Amino acid sequence: MDLKGRSFLTLKDYTPEEIIYLIDLAAVYKDKKKKGVLHDTLRGKNIALIFEKTSTRTRCSFETAAHDLGMGTTYLDPSGSQIGKKESIADTARVLGRMYEGIEYRGFEQSIVEELAKYAGVPVWNGLTNEYHPTQMLADMLTIREHFGYLKDIRLTYMGDARYNMGNSLMIACAKLGMHFTACTSKEYFPNDALVAQCREYAKASGATITLTEDVDAGTKEADVIYTDVWVSMGEPDSVWEERIRKLSPYKVTKEVMDNAGGQSVFLHCLPAFHDLKTKIGKEQGEKYGFTELEVTDEVFESEQSLVFDEAENRMHTIKAVIAATLGACEAI
Ligand code: CP
Ligand code: NVA
Repeated sequence: MDLKGRSFLTLKDYTPEEIIYLIDLAAVYKDKKKKGVLHDTLRGKNIALIFEKTSTRTRCSFETAAHDLGMGTTYLDPSGSQIGKKESIADTARVLGRMYEGIEYRGFEQSIVEELAKYAGVPVWNGLTNEYHPTQMLADMLTIREHFGYLKDIRLTYMGDARYNMGNSLMIACAKLGMHFTACTSKEYFPNDALVAQCREYAKASGATITLTEDVDAGTKEADVIYTDVWVSMGEPDSVWEERIRKLSPYKVTKEVMDNAGGQSVFLHCLPAFHDLKTKIGKEQGEKYGFTELEVTDEVFESEQSLVFDEAENRMHTIKAVIAATLGACEAI
């Protein structure tokens, strides 16, 4: 498998075999890391990390992964560069492409990361856009495979805002990998028709199914994975909170939902999560609208069925695989 020189912008661009290869490679790197085996095969190379939105996991994963591979990193924070303000994306891409072997971008429209990739001349990695979060998918799939031992035919139900980066990306990943994806939410929050149609095409080849339902009981019954994300994403205005809470509250992940899925089910969340009021935004919105937890109850978040911290750790191993594979430095697997 040769992914050298490729950008990683959305899983739509990758075949099921390529996706599985990246997950396998991440497992190899995870094993090396656990055993303390050095794997700094990209010594002397450098990558740029552009964050137009904030991050904990994605930034730390790129930095630690790059360091483990022997590379240097430059972090450009949401205000600390000329990007978009004094310099176009095309010009930024051509400048950074002369200095770095790869560029990570987190920000707004997918068209921005596509434009970066068009002009950079080096691999560009999508660290989250409004539409997609592909590196998160590799971590989620690795976590699911570690727990169940396989991916094909796993039933994954996504509850909440399914028309944004996480819902879209999970639907694509499941469709490509032969899994059964259900978006269980209010119909305004279903993924858009064009993407659903495209995923149904992928599903024909993989044996996946795509279901959209507003019915919590039917949508979560016997699911292996219950997945949710924040109801208001980065970059969205505060004015959407009221409607989100009203429309998505019936789709909160509760113990009843997990019980309906069954004892085999696990809970995943890309994080950060509003499972209590111990955050500034959670506290503000909680006091305003009268809740103590939002998309998932604290009980589920802290339960044995919750794999969210394994999932967070897997961000690092999978991002390392993406960097190494696209820069052509991975070990043979
Ligand atoms: N899941 C995720 O992307 O987390 P960060 O926003 O902390 O990077
Ligand atoms: N949908 C969330 C994902 C965060 C990892 C957001 O875009 O803010």
